[in-house]
Formats: sequence, structure tokens, C-alpha cells
Amino acid sequence: MYDRLIDMSILVLSLIVQQPLVLWATLAALSVLAITRARFAEAAPSPEARPADPAPVEAFSVSIIVPTYKEVESLPLLLARLDELRTRLKLDCEVLIMDDDSKDGTSEMIASKALPWVRLVVRTSNRGLSPAVIDGLKLATKEYLVCMDADLSHPPERIPDMIRALQNGKEFVIGSRYVPGASTGEDWGFFRWLNSKVATLMARPFTSVNDPMSGFFAFRQSLLSRAVALNPIGYKIGLELLVKCGVTQAGEVPIHFAQRQKGESKLTFKEQLRYIQHLRRLLLFRYPNWASILQFLVVGASGVVVNLAALTLFVALKVPMKAAVAAAIVVSMLSNFALNRRFTFSYARSGGLFRQLAGFIGACSLGAVVNYVVTMFMLAKWPALLPQVASLVGIVGGTAVNFVVCRFWVFRAGRPATPPAAG
Ligand code: GDD
Ligand code: MN
Repeated sequence: MYDRLIDMSILVLSLIVQQPLVLWATLAALSVLAITRARFAEAAPSPEARPADPAPVEAFSVSIIVPTYKEVESLPLLLARLDELRTRLKLDCEVLIMDDDSKDGTSEMIASKALPWVRLVVRTSNRGLSPAVIDGLKLATKEYLVCMDADLSHPPERIPDMIRALQNGKEFVIGSRYVPGASTGEDWGFFRWLNSKVATLMARPFTSVNDPMSGFFAFRQSLLSRAVALNPIGYKIGLELLVKCGVTQAGEVPIHFAQRQKGESKLTFKEQLRYIQHLRRLLLFRYPNWASILQFLVVGASGVVVNLAALTLFVALKVPMKAAVAAAIVVSMLSNFALNRRFTFSYARSGGLFRQLAGFIGACSLGAVVNYVVTMFMLAKWPALLPQVASLVGIVGGTAVNFVVCRFWVFRAGRPATPPAAG
């Protein structure tokens, strides 16, 4: 009798945890869709994807913004290549080097060159790549603006093609690694490639360009006035501009992304975590009404991972199976609660912890009951139905009830009808 009670409660609890599984199915389907779309895009090369057009470009005026941190070895090489381009095309060009006080001899080196078209800005506060780029954009005086890295990963020789694409009607043009004709330095390890692909896929809801992660891009000065609430967080300033300026006509020019030869990369694991934070802000900006539902689903999916990890741990610790399963469920419910409180419903963070926890467990249980009832009802009504299909509908129903109870009751805002705000 006692044993059956435990079995029953484990069954009920696992129903609760299974609800977010629907997200996995949706995410997998979306990824497949995105990948197929990318394949089709690759199959049909766009006009700008052709290698360098031999037609001469008209002279244009351009500000080139180069964020730097400890790039004293690369900068002379970059400046030499920019100088060659400048004189060959008779460009009206200024280069803004936005240096975060590297103290590696950058200032002395730039001063000794005394190039009238190069301006060094040494920044000592609000450091970071994106703030440096934004400061540079504000100081720029020319019609066209280009951002690029100092380490010669981005070939300056592609700038004329990028400007030409702007002149032909694009609003924003990316020097892209992922269009036909593009290539990357050979010793790009598998993990860097995978990392970059996953990050790109995660930006899909905001833009359909192939390389939104690129730090090499160009646009007209006038686009900046359209920027709403620029929030320079992390490395992906190009993505931020694409979204916040409401770009609809983006173009991509293929580049050879060269391996850095001097100095070292500053892209750290911490920056990658900030990317998730950045995506969350973009989500709140672009899809304010969907943001809490999506975050709720992502938290739910994370719960599945937590559940499996905890179960693995408990089993390894030789905890008896039933207790291990039950404890893993409790751990994943607690992590779901904490994450939902911190992110999905962050506007209700100041509410009573224990009242919310009790409410959350209640909401999950109600969701599980709805899941169960809906699944059983469907099976009774259409006995020929695959049980998995009935269960999927049950999961959707249960998750929806769970979400609504959380959103409007458990994590209700303290003051009357405060909409979910970024936090
Ligand atoms: N001012 C300033 N402050 N500049 C910085 C900082 C900073 O805190 N951190 C990095 N930079 C500069 C570097 O000096 C370099 O010129 C440029 O920003 C890019 O930094 P890297 O360290 O070379 O980055 P990466 O090669 O890993 O990243 C490349 O790929 C990313 C996409 O995967 C770059 O192209 C990025 O722009 C791109 O987002
Ligand atoms: Mn680099």
C-alpha cells in the first residue's frame, strides 16, 4: 500500500516535469526548419555574394571604427592595408581607434605615425567592446560607417563592396563568413565552429542574416537616428544594431575570415554567458508579449536537463532508485522555480518567497492534473489515437494552465496590472 503511494506520487511528479518536453519537440522542429532554410539560401547565391566586382567604386566618405584592446602588434598592419585602400580609391576616410587604455604602447605607436586620417580615443571608463564601438559611432563624422576588428580577421579590401551594396539599396551590410564565396582560416577548431553555429542559430528569431555574429559591418550614418534604446552588452554589437535600428534590408558580402596572427582573442566564456543575457534583452524588446511565455518554456526545458543530471548524480551516489527519482524531480522543480522567479517573472522578484514557492508547486500540480485529464479524455473519445499524440496535447494543455496560473497568480505584480518589464 505504502509502496503504491510512492509509485503514484512519483508518477504524478514526473508528469509535472514532463510538461516542458513539448518545448524540445518545438525547438528541434525550429532548428531543422532554420537549417533547411539556410541550406536553400546557400543554394541560391545572392548578387552581392559574387566575388569582387571589377567595376570601379565611386569615391565615398567613410568612418572606420576599430575597437582595440592590446592590439599594438596588429594595428600597424591594419593601418598599412587601410592606407593602401585609401590612396588607391582616393577615399575621404577617417579611422577611429577606440582603445580601452591598453597600455601596451598603442598610444605611442599611433602618435609616432602621426597619420592625419587616424584618430586614437583612449577610453578609461565603461570599458568593453560594444560600448567602445558605440562611442566610436557617436564620434564618426562621415556618411558611411564601418566597424571592424583590429586583428586582421576582417579584410579591409572588402569595404568597397560593402559600401556598394549600401548604395544599391541595402540598409546594413555584413562582412559575412557564412555566404557562398566566404571562407575561414583553416585552423578554426571544430568547437569554435560549432559554438559560432549555435550562437547564430540562437539569433534566428531576431534576424535571418547568415552571420549576425560578425563584428565587420557597414551602414549609413543616418541609420543611427533610428536606434531605439541601444544597450551595448557583450560582443554582438552588430546584432544589437540590426534589431534596435529595425533593419529590414540587410545584405552580406562574403569575406575570408583570417586567423589572428598577433596578440590573442579576448572572447571569454564570460562573454558567451553575456550573449544569453543579450538575447534575453532582445527578446523583451522585440517580442514583449511573448517574452514571458518563451522564457517559461526555456526554463522548463532546462528543468529536464537538471532532472536528468540530478538523477545521474543520485544514482551514482547509490541512493535507492525510488528516492533518487523523487529527489531529482524535487531538485528540478526548485531550479525551475528559482529561474522563473529570477528571469521569466522578474518583475515579481520582491514578492514573498514562500508564498510564491507554494503557489508554484500548486500551479505545477494543477498543470499535471490538466495534462492527465486531457490525455485520458482524448484517449477515451478517440480510442484509435496514438497515446503519444494524446499525451502531447495533454502536455500543451497542462503547460498552458501552469503558465497562466504562474503569470497571473503566483508571480502577479505587486502593484495593479504592472506589465512584465525588463529586469
Ligand atoms: N575597446 C575594446 N574593449 N576593444 C575590445 C575589447 C574591449 O574590451 N575586447 C575586444 N576588443 C577588440 C579587440 O581588440 C579586437 O579588435 C576586436 O575587439 C575583436 O576581439 P577579438 O578578441 O579578436 O574577438 P574574436 O576574434 O574572438 O571575435 C570575432 O568573432 C566574433 C564572432 O564570433 C570578432 O569578429 C567579433 O567582432 C565577432 O563578434
Ligand atoms: Mn579576432
